[in-house]
Amino acid sequence: MKSFTPPSRQPRKASALANAEDRITLRTGARVRDRSALKKILLSTQLFYPYEIDVAIDLLDDQIKWKEESIFSFIFADRNRECVGYVCYGPIQTTDHRYDMYWIAVRKDMQGKGIGKILVDETEKRISGRKGRHIYVETSSREDYEPTRTFYRRNGYVEVARVPHYYKDNDDMIILMKSLP
Ligand SMILES: CC(C)(COP(=O)(O)OP(=O)(O)OC[C@H]1O[C@@H](n2cnc3c(N)ncnc32)[C@H](O)[C@@H]1OP(=O)(O)O)[C@@H](O)C(=O)NCCC(=O)NCCS
Repeated sequence: MKSFTPPSRQPRKASALANAEDRITLRTGARVRDRSALKKILLSTQLFYPYEIDVAIDLLDDQIKWKEESIFSFIFADRNRECVGYVCYGPIQTTDHRYDMYWIAVRKDMQGKGIGKILVDETEKRISGRKGRHIYVETSSREDYEPTRTFYRRNGYVEVARVPHYYKDNDDMIILMKSLP
């Protein structure tokens, strides 16, 4: 478990996380009560289709059931012992140490405070520790995903492919990647 005070970008945001009890704690072990926290986080973003939320919870259930044997690794960001953000990643089967960052989300009221960046940094560190060198993320071309694409770009992810009409008509899949040093 690690504690972080997210980096401040704006004085208003910094003060929002300045108190000791507002510190973000990272953990990897999934708990059953994370199911409701994750649903709350994913619903709050107003971005995901209901069936995507079901899949996200399935991945969590896999981790709860199989723990270290699950191919889906999680990092949870807790604030006051409540999960407010998380990332799910894992090795891409049949590749040579390529990793997919399957999912990342921060509860709406906690976004823009640096928690997403903390989760990405920790994910990259852990993937690097497993000798992973290339990380891929898939996201939507929808306009309401523009802030998400900005977030990935700010974290060094570069668009490498686009699959037309992948999710739905006129909703393309954009693949971004980052190579670790
Ligand atoms: C994308 C998401 C995980 C980012 O988490 P976050 O805690 O809000 O992001 P951070 O505060 O750590 O921001 C990190 C960087 O991204 C930028 N960023 C984050 N949200 C942004 C936004 N809405 N618009 C523009 N830039 C944004 C920040 O400016 C920051 O860059 P900087 O360090 O150069 O200032 C979060 O906003 C989220 O849950 N979005 C909805 C779910 C989602 O889209 N998940 C990905 C599915 S593919």
